[in-house]
Amino acid sequence: MTETQNILVTGATGTVGLQVVTELLARGHRVRALTRDAAKADFPADVEVVEGDLTYPDSLIPALEGVTGLHLITFGGAYFAPLETGPRILELARAAGVRRVTVLHGGGPSRLEDAVRADDGVDWTVLMPVEFMANALEWSDGIVNRGEVKEPFVSRLSAMVHEGDIGAVAAVALTEEGHGSQEYVITGPELLTVGDKVAALAAARGQEIALIELTEEQAVEQWRAAGRPEDVIGFLLEAYGNTPEIGRTVVDTVEKVTGRPARTFAQWSAEHAEAFKG
Ligand SMILES: NC(=O)c1ccc[n+]([C@@H]2O[C@H](COP(=O)([O-])OP(=O)(O)OC[C@H]3O[C@@H](n4cnc5c(N)ncnc54)[C@H](OP(=O)(O)O)[C@@H]3O)[C@@H](O)[C@H]2O)c1
Repeated sequence: MTETQNILVTGATGTVGLQVVTELLARGHRVRALTRDAAKADFPADVEVVEGDLTYPDSLIPALEGVTGLHLITFGGAYFAPLETGPRILELARAAGVRRVTVLHGGGPSRLEDAVRADDGVDWTVLMPVEFMANALEWSDGIVNRGEVKEPFVSRLSAMVHEGDIGAVAAVALTEEGHGSQEYVITGPELLTVGDKVAALAAARGQEIALIELTEEQAVEQWRAAGRPEDVIGFLLEAYGNTPEIGRTVVDTVEKVTGRPARTFAQWSAEHAEAFKG
């Protein structure tokens, strides 16, 4: 057990950030969670909730007071618009005495990530997770209401990762020595097709799920109908139709950094079974 530290988590109400909060608390650290709207946030009682907006870095000054570690996201608006304020955020963090920074990589160029990598005054770790297991929650409506999943590219392989494991890697990197100037690709323990994922969810809910393969055109139609912007649709087509090697290669970062194996999708499905029951 390392000594108790004060950590500021940005993106704390999000899929990954909430797990960073949970894993830090489990390790006995003090957590300050940043949100733009504290009234909407729902954290365990031990968490100190602070308001601030990453697009207005000076709003973070009170939140940064007394923290030694900082978890950052690279976006700050609708559909993950990249933050332009990275250099100022880093300047404020250094001035506040932050010694360790983790950044959740956003999959594209980022001024914030560049500023972190260029900062030799802090120990930084870039977290590069592959597909989140939590993305399966997008299937919940189709499974609950129609018992089906409609997807293109069903034989694509994914090394999908449990978001709790991303949080665990972040918590260790933020509070222990030895993770500075590192770029960690974070995956789950196995390669899965869409069919494998659907089978795991069916086993967890105790009811069959039909997998219906969409053509590329049908998938684009479905995503447009769901209101996804064209650039996001283009990203999905590329990510699913032509998954880069990094997204379909299992690595042992979770075990190496946290000392315990990465969680499986069967475990994730059991934890979330209620979200898929009719
Ligand atoms: N989904 C995947 O498979 C996958 C895989 C690899 C990487 N990623 C990357 O993961 C990131 C998404 O993470 P996530 O899913 O955990 O996010 P998320 O669940 O969508 O949560 C978004 C978070 O960002 C915060 N936020 C947004 N704008 C803000 C601002 N201006 N100031 C302060 N906070 C702000 C929100 O806080 P409030 O609303 O409370 O203020 C919320 O906590 C993206 O960069 C994506 O590229 C995703």
